[in-house]
Amino acid sequence: MITLTKISKSFGSRVLFENVTITFNSGNRYGLTGPNGAGKTTLLKIIMGLEEPTSGMVSLPDKVGILRQNIEDFSDFIVSDVIIMGNRRLWDALKERDTLYDVEMTDDVGMRLGELEGIIAEENGYSADSEAEQFLSGMGIPEEYLQQKMHAIPTDMQFRVLLCQSLFGEPQALLLDEPTNHLDMESIGWLETFMHSYKGTLIVISHDRHFLNSVCTHIADIDYDTIIIYNGNYDDMIVAKTSVRERAELDAKSKEKKISQLQDFVSRFGAGTRASQVQSRLREIGRLQPQDLKKSNIQRPYIRFIPTDKAPGQIILKVKGISKAYGDKQVLKNFSMEVLRGDKIGIIGANGRGKTTLLKMLAGVLQADNGSIEVGHHAIFGYFPQNHTDIIDKKDANNAFEWLKERGQSIYDQEIRAVLGKMLFAGDDAFKAVGNLSGGETARLILGGMLLTDHNVLIMDEPNNHLDLEAVSALAWGLEEYKGTVLVASHDRGLLEQVATKIIAFEPDGIQFFDGPLADYLTAKAEKSGKR
Ligand SMILES: Nc1ncnc2c1ncn2[C@@H]1O[C@H](COP(=O)(O)OP(=O)(O)OP(=O)(O)O)[C@@H](O)[C@H]1O
Ligand SMILES: [Mg+2]
Repeated sequence: MITLTKISKSFGSRVLFENVTITFNSGNRYGLTGPNGAGKTTLLKIIMGLEEPTSGMVSLPDKVGILRQNIEDFSDFIVSDVIIMGNRRLWDALKERDTLYDVEMTDDVGMRLGELEGIIAEENGYSADSEAEQFLSGMGIPEEYLQQKMHAIPTDMQFRVLLCQSLFGEPQALLLDEPTNHLDMESIGWLETFMHSYKGTLIVISHDRHFLNSVCTHIADIDYDTIIIYNGNYDDMIVAKTSVRERAELDAKSKEKKISQLQDFVSRFGAGTRASQVQSRLREIGRLQPQDLKKSNIQRPYIRFIPTDKAPGQIILKVKGISKAYGDKQVLKNFSMEVLRGDKIGIIGANGRGKTTLLKMLAGVLQADNGSIEVGHHAIFGYFPQNHTDIIDKKDANNAFEWLKERGQSIYDQEIRAVLGKMLFAGDDAFKAVGNLSGGETARLILGGMLLTDHNVLIMDEPNNHLDLEAVSALAWGLEEYKGTVLVASHDRGLLEQVATKIIAFEPDGIQFFDGPLADYLTAKAEKSGKR
């Protein structure tokens, strides 16, 4: 059980929560929802103790699984150790035992070693490795990675290792901020099943509606400065929220009608003899004044990509026999393809299979081990990396405006302001420090940068991660309308169906090229496997 008592939090004049008191019961699985920037991550950090509330108190069970986001801090550790660190008590005991083995044996040391063995046994330390391996395979992390250092494996795999870490050691509560961002459909399925049998208190933030519907028994929705708990999953919450709103609107309408009747009376008899009746009507009007219905806190950015005036040649990219390996793990082998002007290519499949690696090489930010990539005449790339910190340094002192200004010398301040507005950075939000931006705000800022710079080819690596539903649909529209060439890797079916006219699928038995939309590819694939 987790309880929040009178929690308030503000950043300067911006109030995120005011006096929130809630209990999250064990056995329940809560989805924490709200649009980008609503304060979901901040709330979770307050619960984790990583961020101080302005006022109020949190109480937590002893053993809490936390999904860390700071992959940099683990880069020198071995994958299996990173997972075991999820159980702090076990990890500390193992470490202390290791150091005691190196010192001279005395009675005290022997005694302490005995205690440590006790702790290790209590925490199932002797089966830790096999437990870790089980999570690894569920998350689709290749076994070869288990004994590698974190920095030697691809970034999205590092995030998955951190997810294994949070699940490790049977935590009584689990706090997960967007766990599905770095997962493909198979691992999402595995995680869903894991969650269904999880007995503790789960609080999970996600913008993935399907995941929330499958996993959650309750939704904690951040609505302005308060949090409302709904029974049921995400769709149930939407239905409940809509009906509350409709009732409020009806109520407001009927009040308006009553007021206009009363006002009629007042204006007819106001100057006459019925002074006391007029007075009482006026009082009633005052009482009935409908309270302003809060506007919805949901907003949609406006994402319209315009290609440069100069069109590229017919061939955008010619990829010949490229290969790439990380250590012993061969990710791409002798891969060739051609991208033609106007192609809208959707790239699907598990992450470990090399989508990000391919896109990085196409965008020119990673070198292939061998093979060649020819870039067509006048082809200019806009690149959206899967890992936002590849292009936004979160430790940078710049604010959103300054970051955009650095995209190019010839960008006018007015243009930047206009783009910031479209990306929902209204007023002073334009001057928020980049390090403080939420995940969705960071993604919107990167998209803003792409609106300001020249391109006729967009290479996007899971751009929908972190974005709320409104922003994803704005992005899908922007890519559909774009008159240039698009390569987009995503697990968002809706987005791919709207944008892609060709598919590249990273399947377990190899990379497939398909000339047609996603739905047709999936049908063809199902038919093929049915025949087998
Ligand atoms: N240290 C800070 N100083 C000022 N503002 C901050 C700070 N940290 C966060 N914010 C702002 O608080 C708001 C809530 O941020 P938070 O990261 O909690 O949002 P979120 O709901 O998790 O959004 P997303 O869905 O995009 O991840 C955002 O507008 C963010 O810019
Ligand atoms: Mg967040």
